[in-house]
Amino acid sequence: MINNINDYNKKIKLLKIFDKNYYDLNKPKISDAEYDLLKKEILDFEQKNKKLNLNFASNKVGFSPSKKFSKVLHTEKMLSLDNAFDLSDIENFYKKIKNYLSFHLDDNILLTAEPKIDGISASLFYSNGILARGLSRGDGEYGEDITENLMTINDIPKKIEIKNLPSSFEVRGEVYIGKKDFEKLKDNFANPRNAAGGSLRQKDSKNTAKIPLKFFAYSTIQKNQNICKTQIEFLDFLKKCKFNINPLSTVVENISQLEKNYKKIEALRSSLDYDIDGLVYKVNDFSLQQRLGNLSNSPRWAIAHKFSAEKAFSKIIDIEIQVGRTGALTPVAKVDPVTVGGVVVSNATLHNEDEIIRKDIRIGDVVCIQRAGDVIPQVLYVEKNKRTKDSKPYAFPKKCPCGNDTVKEFNSTTKKMDAVRRCPDIAYECPFMAKERLKHFVSKEALNIDGLGKKVIDNFWQLNLIKFPSDIFNLNYDHIKQLDGWGDLSCNNLKQAIELSKNITLEKFIYSIGIRHIGQENAKILASYFKNIKNFEKLFDSKKITEELSNLREIDGIGETQINALNNFFSNNKNTEVIKKLVHALKIKSFEKITSGIFANKLLMFTGGFSKMSRSEAKSIAESQGGKVLGSLSKKLNYLVVGNSKPTNSKIEKAKEIGIEIIDEEKWYKLLNR
Ligand code: IVH
Repeated sequence: MINNINDYNKKIKLLKIFDKNYYDLNKPKISDAEYDLLKKEILDFEQKNKKLNLNFASNKVGFSPSKKFSKVLHTEKMLSLDNAFDLSDIENFYKKIKNYLSFHLDDNILLTAEPKIDGISASLFYSNGILARGLSRGDGEYGEDITENLMTINDIPKKIEIKNLPSSFEVRGEVYIGKKDFEKLKDNFANPRNAAGGSLRQKDSKNTAKIPLKFFAYSTIQKNQNICKTQIEFLDFLKKCKFNINPLSTVVENISQLEKNYKKIEALRSSLDYDIDGLVYKVNDFSLQQRLGNLSNSPRWAIAHKFSAEKAFSKIIDIEIQVGRTGALTPVAKVDPVTVGGVVVSNATLHNEDEIIRKDIRIGDVVCIQRAGDVIPQVLYVEKNKRTKDSKPYAFPKKCPCGNDTVKEFNSTTKKMDAVRRCPDIAYECPFMAKERLKHFVSKEALNIDGLGKKVIDNFWQLNLIKFPSDIFNLNYDHIKQLDGWGDLSCNNLKQAIELSKNITLEKFIYSIGIRHIGQENAKILASYFKNIKNFEKLFDSKKITEELSNLREIDGIGETQINALNNFFSNNKNTEVIKKLVHALKIKSFEKITSGIFANKLLMFTGGFSKMSRSEAKSIAESQGGKVLGSLSKKLNYLVVGNSKPTNSKIEKAKEIGIEIIDEEKWYKLLNR
């Protein structure tokens, strides 16, 4: 029995030791039942003493993830989805895809509308119809081999007996736990999704088998799309293969059908035996999906339409400032812990200074808090009738917690001053920004170092073990071994993960630096331009940087904002020193350019609009055929591709003058066999 905070702390220590023995050392010290009892005791104490804001067990995602699964490269990346919260987001989605495909705004594009199952995604690989391997999503690129555990799921066919099945066939879908089944597991997990994740990642598949996991199949990889012409036909095909398909999946022809269906499913939501958190819309026609293609992390051809968020009321105890990686000062309301949609919330974002003023938010106010799926909880409005005399207006600090004066920038796109206040530090001087940069550096999309998550970075930072990214490669493991929660095995695992992360592509490296305005897409463009780290290093050279940056002007997709951001970053000596050390520690792979295709090694430029495709699609086709697209005319150019709609005549004249080959719209389609 836990009577006070001392008992509580002792039990947490015990739980940590048992966890370590179970997960890291694979030698459980107590039985499962004893472990569950201990965890329940801790959880009960946390629930009864919400004011203390203890959340060790409440935040524990079921069981700690196991480190034993081997990582396997997915045949095709497992993407996530962009989110839409209202109909205007959906309208935007329609607009974007129609623009990309160069369709008329009145043209119909059929979408499938499928419930978005709140579970854990998995990819199943069938070799000649036999289930050969099953992977978790992992970081999207590499999944964990959880074949044995997936084999225990009855809904997953071990053999597909259907004629003409491709010899290599991949099915993707969602593993979930039914709500009724979850009732029995409730004490150990925060929600069904965590329970599904925890049981899927059990070391011993016998433990997975004890938990009634289910599976809905919903997609495949592009390579297997030739089986059918559309997504809805493919769902039917999956059914024939004996997969479970969500019975509520349907096709919608326009936004009004889409809205009607959304309302219908939202009304059904609570009566379903599985959790759904929205709908997924996918362009039904596979050939259009292929034309639309993907961004770095999500497809252009699909979007998740989230259900309206869960709301709750609580009191603001304090307002704290968080400094982000790019220096943005975000005010965060510390509120009395409150459950919003099954999750205990004690922090909610207030966005920025202007929002606090606009909503007239004061410390001591009772506010409405909203949490939508995986999005950070936010404060919506103040319950003004509950305001007391003690409520205190909040004076937004003009200084960053590091002491720097903050600035508001002029946004050249909106032509207005930014609402966000920023710390102007561009080097590693502001410790708050520097720490966030480290978190970005090790994140999934960057170096992706297993075992070096945000909490570990906070801890190592405080202990002065890591201050700069390169410190990660010179860690003092003898010291770490002595730390609470660390031992030989976990240290070795970390060492290995860090060693593995050293092999990195140029584009990931550029992204991982965390330069403002250089996200994944821009990092890719820069990597394809610089090709290898030697060329990229020219940016670190004060004699070469100006020329290099002016060369970037000709690349399609890179504008003044990015060039200024690169200039700011690399003209600072401290930054270049930090990055040079990193280059030394890492093995940066050169950009793998596509060397085959009709435009291999050719430079192209576009002018004018095309009738059958957008500029973005034309650019992406040129690149997939080995070409490089420039944003301005240069002597090096091989082709100027001229669309019929409003081309710039001066460009055509100039190109003719320097002897650049002109490709007109008709010839362009012929070259592409369209
Ligand atoms: S399609 C690239 N269909 O939602 C397309 N995903 O937030 C993504 N999900 O990682 C897969 N129900 O785990 C698709 N009917 C459905 C889905 C679904 C749930 C999950 C999936 C994905 C996540 C994205």
